[in-house]
Amino acid sequence: MLDVAFARPSLPGSGALALLIGEDETASGLWAKADAATDGAIGRALAAAKFTGRKDQTATVLAPGGGLSRVIAVGLGKRADARTRTYEEAGGTAAAAATGDEVLTIAPGGSGPEAAHAALGAVLRAYRFDRYRTKEKPEDKPKLAKVVINHEEQAAAKAAWPALEAIAEGVFVTRDLVSEPANVLTPAEFAKRCEGFSKYGLDVEILGPKEMRKLGFGALLGVAQGSVNEGRFVVMQWHGRKGKGKSKPVAFVGKGVTFDTGGISIKPAGGMEEMKWDMAGAGTVAGLMVALAGRKAKVDAVGILGLVENMPSGTAQRPGDVVTTYSGQTVEVLNTDAEGRLVLADALWYCQEKFEPRFMVNLATLTGAIVVALGHEHAGLFSNDDELSQRLFAAGTETGEKVWRMPLADAYDKLLRSDIADMKNIGGRPGGAVTAAQFLQRFVNGTPWAHLDIAGTAWNSKDGPTIPKGASAFGVRLLDRLVADHFEA
Ligand code: BES
Ligand code: MN
Ligand code: ZN
Repeated sequence: MLDVAFARPSLPGSGALALLIGEDETASGLWAKADAATDGAIGRALAAAKFTGRKDQTATVLAPGGGLSRVIAVGLGKRADARTRTYEEAGGTAAAAATGDEVLTIAPGGSGPEAAHAALGAVLRAYRFDRYRTKEKPEDKPKLAKVVINHEEQAAAKAAWPALEAIAEGVFVTRDLVSEPANVLTPAEFAKRCEGFSKYGLDVEILGPKEMRKLGFGALLGVAQGSVNEGRFVVMQWHGRKGKGKSKPVAFVGKGVTFDTGGISIKPAGGMEEMKWDMAGAGTVAGLMVALAGRKAKVDAVGILGLVENMPSGTAQRPGDVVTTYSGQTVEVLNTDAEGRLVLADALWYCQEKFEPRFMVNLATLTGAIVVALGHEHAGLFSNDDELSQRLFAAGTETGEKVWRMPLADAYDKLLRSDIADMKNIGGRPGGAVTAAQFLQRFVNGTPWAHLDIAGTAWNSKDGPTIPKGASAFGVRLLDRLVADHFEA
């Protein structure tokens, strides 16, 4: 993670300087000082670039003088309309423009806390998964190591940082997990890494196949049985309300298919490598729990991860097999590629039975159909609870991890009827994301619940302002925000 420091405004004599500029603002503060120190070079360059501070507008002035390697102007749009998210995006854009420098000084303006969000954006954008690059030349590596936020209210900006740093740490936990290849990140290895997260103050419990068989997780184990890499079930708990009296926890449940070949209903070869991130739901729950613990959120939270590998083999489950879920309900497995819902069926039932949570939110790269419906802009939101849905929508708008509500209805549920068991695990092509959600709803037992189908948002194929190409960690910030806004204290 980038080093982050806070200082009162003072013109740096080296490195990169980023000026976050509102629409039609005129030079003042550090901007004016930088302009003076460079004999007006910055003002002339910005005028020549027709830089007006429009949102997302950028202009870089190389070697303007005064020892600076570059000055990066980033437009915020109307300053009065700027939100914390605006500062994050501008900070991230500045960091991307400054990878050749070791130190980036950002003059964000705005309030102290808003300035801290510019640092968060820079940190998030500078993330890189380079574990397996052994031959990269030093000159090809990004050099940026430190961000200095210059702000009049240095103390207020600095005070806002630790909580944001914890969120960034959680996001990085998720991105690391999701980026790992499936030969490394098996269910056992994933569970082991979760155990390591106890250093943040989380209680971590791991169930193996023996314990799961004893409990009767027939649906999860049916998926796992085709792989030599055994399944795991992880329960993480954060107790942040110590001494504040008992209250029900909030709960998060993640689909963790460390690789999804489809099983016997095998997927086509093209693009199958993407299925290493079919554990993004579980990865997001793990990162969220780390974020909540890291910022000492005043909430009791449970994170549950169902971890399996979906493989075809002589021991794999067959189309037509009937499994008995932990709830007692039976499922005819007509397509072994609809495996995520089977894993979640047992995890959701266990979650509500064991913890009686205030609500459950599950995250899953569940269906290709949600990508067809919503593309990569919104995750699909399915819920039995209007208030929870509205809160998730609002948290999505604030964090940029946007969700869009999709329907649930009896008519869809009926499509799951089976000739031989209580239900089948597929409902046909039309409304595929909805029938998948209907399937999950059969395992929530009336608990307030939301399902986020993140198949289209867990992985980005191009750079975004605060997310480099690759694992997005979609959901960590959204759900952290949901908790912060409604479930703390
Ligand atoms: N993991 C996939 C869904 C997926 C597809 C995620 C594309 C990310 C990108 C899931 O397990 C799956 O295979 N779903 C099937 C369900 C179908 C067999 C009913 C699908 O969406 O095709
Ligand atoms: Mn599948
Ligand atoms: Zn899957």
